[in-house]
Amino acid sequence: MAFDIDMIKGVYANMATRVDKAREIVGKPLTLSEKILYSHLWDGNPSKAFKRGKDYVDFAPDRIACQDATAQMALLQFMQAGKPKVAVPTTVHCDHLIQAKNGAVSDLKVANSTSAEVFDFLESVSNKYGIGFWKPGAGIIHQVVLENYAFPGGMMIGTDSHTVNAGGLGMVAIGVGGADAVDVMAGMAWELKFPKLIGVKLTGNISGWTSAKDVILKVAGILTVKGGTGAIVEYFGEGAKNLSCTGKGTICNMGAEIGATTSTFGYDESMERYLRATDRNDVADAANQVKEHLTADAEVYANPEQYFDEIIEINLDELRPHLNGPFTPDLATPVGELGEKARANDWPLKVDWGLIGSCTNSSYEDLTRAASIAKQAVDKKIKPKSDFGINPGSETIRYTAERDGILEIFENLGATIFTNACGPCIGQWDRSDAKGDEKNTIVHSFNRNFSKRADGNPNTHAFVGSPEMVAAIAISGRLDFDPMNDTLLNEDGEEVKLDMPLGIELPPQGFAVEDAGFLAPDADGSGIEVKVSPDSERLQLLEPFTPIKDESLMGAKLLIKAFGKCTTDHISMAGPWLRFRGHLDNISNNCLIGAVNAFGKKTNFVKNQLTGEYAGVPDTARAYKAAGVKSVVVGDHNYGEGSSREHAAMEPRHLGVAAVIVKSFARIHETNLKKQGMLGLTFSNESDYDLIQEDDTFNFLDIAEFAPDKQLTIEIVHADGSKDTIKVNHTYNDAQIAWYREGSALNVIKKENAA
Ligand code: F3S
Repeated sequence: MAFDIDMIKGVYANMATRVDKAREIVGKPLTLSEKILYSHLWDGNPSKAFKRGKDYVDFAPDRIACQDATAQMALLQFMQAGKPKVAVPTTVHCDHLIQAKNGAVSDLKVANSTSAEVFDFLESVSNKYGIGFWKPGAGIIHQVVLENYAFPGGMMIGTDSHTVNAGGLGMVAIGVGGADAVDVMAGMAWELKFPKLIGVKLTGNISGWTSAKDVILKVAGILTVKGGTGAIVEYFGEGAKNLSCTGKGTICNMGAEIGATTSTFGYDESMERYLRATDRNDVADAANQVKEHLTADAEVYANPEQYFDEIIEINLDELRPHLNGPFTPDLATPVGELGEKARANDWPLKVDWGLIGSCTNSSYEDLTRAASIAKQAVDKKIKPKSDFGINPGSETIRYTAERDGILEIFENLGATIFTNACGPCIGQWDRSDAKGDEKNTIVHSFNRNFSKRADGNPNTHAFVGSPEMVAAIAISGRLDFDPMNDTLLNEDGEEVKLDMPLGIELPPQGFAVEDAGFLAPDADGSGIEVKVSPDSERLQLLEPFTPIKDESLMGAKLLIKAFGKCTTDHISMAGPWLRFRGHLDNISNNCLIGAVNAFGKKTNFVKNQLTGEYAGVPDTARAYKAAGVKSVVVGDHNYGEGSSREHAAMEPRHLGVAAVIVKSFARIHETNLKKQGMLGLTFSNESDYDLIQEDDTFNFLDIAEFAPDKQLTIEIVHADGSKDTIKVNHTYNDAQIAWYREGSALNVIKKENAA
């Protein structure tokens, strides 16, 4: 599928020198994560040791992957860069916009019609700029990446938090916002804070009902949803070697649920088997030649506490199957103890749905393990008590599973086979037994189970488990069922027990597919026209932002003084707005509508100083813009925390906001503001936040002298004519000031390109 063996060989060719150099500089044996990081420095050979958790470092990733929801704005921005092709191999995967309802054939047809313009746009823009395009129905981004592109020792970024799944094949793979992906597509470096390292030593062996999923469910219980923040989790030990490659992928995938930067495993035979089974003998051969660089140094594994910032040890012989939830993936409970907990917390014991799939657990092995349970239900005449839905991970997996009779087993149980896509995992689920806001329980093999995630119902209690445990629980219809100890009554009134699941790691007859759903881009895309209708509600070609003129910063008006927490969700809400992700003007109608106005403590209700009337934030911003008046947003601490979505910076920029002045920023959002050519500033004296009044006008007195490490001075004129003059700090370097002066980072790239 057009994976780039020459690129991979190039990475391996550099690895030995760079790893040796890094070891010398760091002065001690290296973990696998360090080997991959130091061999992907933007400047080539390592020249200094970086402080974990402190230093910001420029990297050169090998690949980029984007899913259809995030790719829209990323590619609209890339079009602004004026480049003929992406600088780094990139793929786009259409998996998020397909709703699960009646089954694959009809659901895909509906999606192809309702999202036709988005898919057409993504296909044409991919074709033009040398991007591989995976059509709707081809599969879930992270399964397709694992099957086709991931390689041991590689580094990739993706515009989706579960990009980390590729750690199952020994990569350092990291989820990023669209703006970061655009930088790398345009040939720029990618910046990351050098991560801390958490080592997870796996001893013993997985067996019986316990699966790879239970490793990460257990780790999530230990580390909680924040425990991995800023760290790479590196798994090692005999237990790691005994896991399949896709099982390793499952563990890395849910590293996102503990907040980890990413997770990874050292190269081993399971990865080699997987590479060969997925038609990549040349990658396996190349990896075998540099094997010693694709795992940590032996000393690291012998004395891990000396090389990792934190160590966790899990004995797989003792690990029990878990179900995590509801409402958070770190609430871990061993199966068998859930009944008591559910009764104490009043969680519904009756299970309505069992869902198997998602990028986490939709491999061939996952389907076979779940099918081995489903088959027993049919053979032993146990009528399933819950509904079943299955989303295979890719067309290759689906086709192979169909050929091998696995899908038929699920169908015999009455399961609906949904499209090879995200479906219920991202709330794209038109649930046949729609529950309104009725309290109910579902079990699934996905990664996230936050309130409303699967079906929009805040009272759906979702529990996360392995596919085989999901199958068993769904067959029993009870959350307190323990298949290792309990029996079920069959249709003949007999008590029967389910035997432990049996999976097949890789298809004995090999993978097969008729049409994997991949479209390779044209070698020369220069003549291709990118399709965007001017009447479209969902897509809009971007106009370059014009630079903010110094004189326009005399007389800027306060748009909103945000009170308390103001995350990227408050700035650019998700939910129904996702539909407009590719249309900047339309999605700007959600700009800051979730932020609480410090005056009046209401959301989306601010004063228009030109008219004295109160209105929504976007309308007020548009009114200032129409009058040629720049506006200013004021905020509290950690402004812009949450996701890295660039819309949170693009929307205010589009609506004429010139500066955001806060007590402190979430760093990614601050960078996003800089990239969009705005001023992201912090009060030098935090209490100056309290000086800001509702009718304030801002005069940026010395903006003409904007320079690195130099404070700016702002005169604030209040309604009664009184004035305060304050100092604000900034973190702009010379290059970032150039972004501001040119109107955006993309304008700078475009200018450099044209020169
Ligand atoms: Fe899709 Fe859910 Fe994974 S939305 S990418 S299957 S986390």
